[in-house]
Parts: sequence; structure tokens; C-alpha cells
Amino acid sequence: MRMVDLIEKKRDGAVLTEEEIKFIIRGYTNDDIPDYQMSAWAMAVFFRGMTDEESAALTDAIVHSGDTIDLSAIEGVKVDKHSTGGVGDTTTLVLAPLVASAGVPVAKMSGRGLGHTGGTIDKLESIPGFSVEITNDRFIELVNRNKVAVIGQTADLTPADKKLYSLRDVTATVNSIPLIASSIMSKKLASGADAIVLDVKTGSGAFMKELEDAKELARTMVKIGNDLGRHTSAVISDMTQPLGFAIGNALEMKEAIDTLNGRGPKDLTELCLTLGSRMVLQAKKADSLEEARAMLEKVIEDGSALENLKTFVESQNGDKSVIDHPDRLPAARHTFEVKAKESGYVTGITADRIGTAAMVLGAGRATKQSEIDLAVGLVLRKKIGEKVEEGETLVTVHSNQENIEDCVNRIYESYTISAEKTEAPPLVYEVIDK
Ligand code: URA
Ligand code: CA
Repeated sequence: MRMVDLIEKKRDGAVLTEEEIKFIIRGYTNDDIPDYQMSAWAMAVFFRGMTDEESAALTDAIVHSGDTIDLSAIEGVKVDKHSTGGVGDTTTLVLAPLVASAGVPVAKMSGRGLGHTGGTIDKLESIPGFSVEITNDRFIELVNRNKVAVIGQTADLTPADKKLYSLRDVTATVNSIPLIASSIMSKKLASGADAIVLDVKTGSGAFMKELEDAKELARTMVKIGNDLGRHTSAVISDMTQPLGFAIGNALEMKEAIDTLNGRGPKDLTELCLTLGSRMVLQAKKADSLEEARAMLEKVIEDGSALENLKTFVESQNGDKSVIDHPDRLPAARHTFEVKAKESGYVTGITADRIGTAAMVLGAGRATKQSEIDLAVGLVLRKKIGEKVEEGETLVTVHSNQENIEDCVNRIYESYTISAEKTEAPPLVYEVIDK
């Protein structure tokens, strides 16, 4: 086989075979296929797309480009959740102890990553002492005992994806549904999940700004997962504004604790119940979504979800007293109120722009080397559909710097206040199951 022929084949709109796709991914991982040929191929895929069979074959080839994790020593159906990203998305912190206390094993492997705020690990590390540096054996033991544990990524998962994703980044080929779907699904499959619940975001703060594109991405990922033998479903949820109120690591940790206490923001709580019920169902811990949801509502109400979080934190060396006393989480030196300059209704909060307002305070990483400030971030006081008077607070800024001009400008740029009222956007647009 010659790469040039396969580029030509895809360029002309033909369908590649599984063998051909394996050849491409193996060759690229081994450096036998150079970046310039891979770039041309990615651009051909960008314009011509892929069939569902090609997308599944591509995913499978990427999974087998590196290590895969074997979670078979953990009892039960391991269900993983993946969100396609968003701003202030605190769902993982809530969902892990929530579904674990309903008996679903949560074996979470996490990286740190770039973004408006840190990843799940950074947020958990805002709890003094909490550590993800545990051995594999300890990880498995903890999941079997407590139903939840988080470990830092050590294995070399999906090297083909690392290489291809960076190449796509500099060749304008990121935004291709088969390439995104295979990239995301390969990482989930390599990390050993038996079943997967996807939270595909749509709206201004999401990767997929248009609902139709989000649906197509969700449909493609659900098909890939099921074709490769893992029960996969997707919830398409709103990211035209941030989820919940908090954006920032310790602030989101506190928000997650509030939510597990039954006092969380309505939208965050509802999305966690929606995603969580699917996880419980796919883990075969309930026979229907209604039964699953009732189980989750019960573990919030009777305090067992919060108890599970305490055990989880304590087992990984964290100070569990923080959960009853969130004021012991890292706190910023200063708070500032950003006030409305006019009266009206909030009709828009551009999620990605407000995300950068948190990032300039130090809540997120711009480069892999950046240090993150766990204490800083934003708390939204007004969301879409709410009435606001001139001088009322829109956002509270938690900062360790006194000069927050850049942050404040970004907050004003992200809020739209109009004379006419708009309804809050729906939280969930559609659910796709096989
Ligand atoms: N996230 C990924 O992991 N891969 C993509 O291609 C896009 C978003
Ligand atoms: Ca939030």
C-alpha cells in the first residue's frame, strides 16, 4: 500500500477499507508516514467525510496505537461520562460520587489539560492533601471498595490521537465530525469503559455552535461506540451560557458540594440527574430511567452521596472536613462586584468569552507549563432570562490580583442586556441512544 494512493482515494470521495485505515494510523504512529501526507489526508477527510464504518475503523485503529487499560478487576459495568467541553462544567465532580453511591463503579483516569479552568484533577486538588498519585492496584481496590477513585494518567493512551490532533490544530482540520468523533471515542475506549454517556454541548461556549452539528457529532459517536461493542448514548445539552454559577477550581468544588447537598444551581442539578440516570441505567443498576433518577434523588436527600464524597476524598489523602466546611477551600485575597451599567434583561452570556475572563485571573492554563491558581474565578449572579437593575451585581470576581481590568472588560463583553425579556434556553435538546 502507498499513502499517496490512499490520499487520492479519499480526495476523490471513495470509501477506505479497514485495512487501509489501519495502514494509515500504524504508519503515522511509527513515523513511516510524514506529516505532510497525513495533513493532505486529514484535509481530504475534512471535505469528503467518512462513512460510519470508516469512522469506527479509524477509532479502533487509534485505540490500538498505544496502551489500553484493563478494568476487568473492577466488579460491575464501568460507565464513563464524557463532556465535549464547556465553561464552568462542574458535572464530573458531582456525578462521580452521585452515581457511585447508587452502586455504579466510577474508575476515572484524568489529565490536566488546557482550558478556561483546570481539569477535574485540579478541581479535586483544591481539597488540601487530595492526591491522584496512587498505584494501579490501590486504584482498583478503591473502586471496588468505595465505587469511586481518580488516578492521574500514566499509560501511553492513543499516541496516534496526540500526534494527529496536534497536526489538525495547525492544518485547519480540527472541525471535521469523523475526526473529532474518532478522537474523543478512541480515548474513552482505550481507558477501559464498558459503557459511555456523552454530554455533547451546543451553543456559543461549545465546540459545536450549531445544534445540527452537535446532533451529527453525537449520532456519529453513539454509532462508533455501539459498533465497537460498548453501550453508548448521548445527551445534547446547552452551552449558550455557563452551567451553574461558579467558574474556577475551588469555586466549582464548592458548587459541587452544594449540589450533592441538594442546594446546587438548578441547571447543574438537572443535568447531573439526566446524565447520572443514564449512567445508572447503562450500568444495569436500574431497569428504567425513572427508577434510576429516583435512586439518585434519594442518595442526595438522605446524604449518602455526600458521605460517598467524604470517603472518596479521605481515601485519597484529602481533608474531608472541607466538605462540611467549604470555607476551608483555598480562597482568593480579593472579591469584586461587577455591576450592570444599565437595567433590562440578560439575553446572552457568551460562555467562551466569560471563560477567558476566569482564565486571565489564573483559573486556567494557557500553556501546559502555566501554573494554575485554584482559588480564583467567577461567580455569576445573573443568568439568561433574569431581570437586572442598573448597579446590581452581574458577577463576583475572586482574584489574587488587585488589577482586574482585563477580566472585567471581558465580563462586560460577554453579557448582553436588552430591554426585551428572553426565555432561558432549554437545558437538554435531545437524547440519542442506539
Ligand atoms: N476533543 C478531542 O479530544 N478531539 C477532537 O478532535 C476535538 C475535541
Ligand atoms: Ca459551574
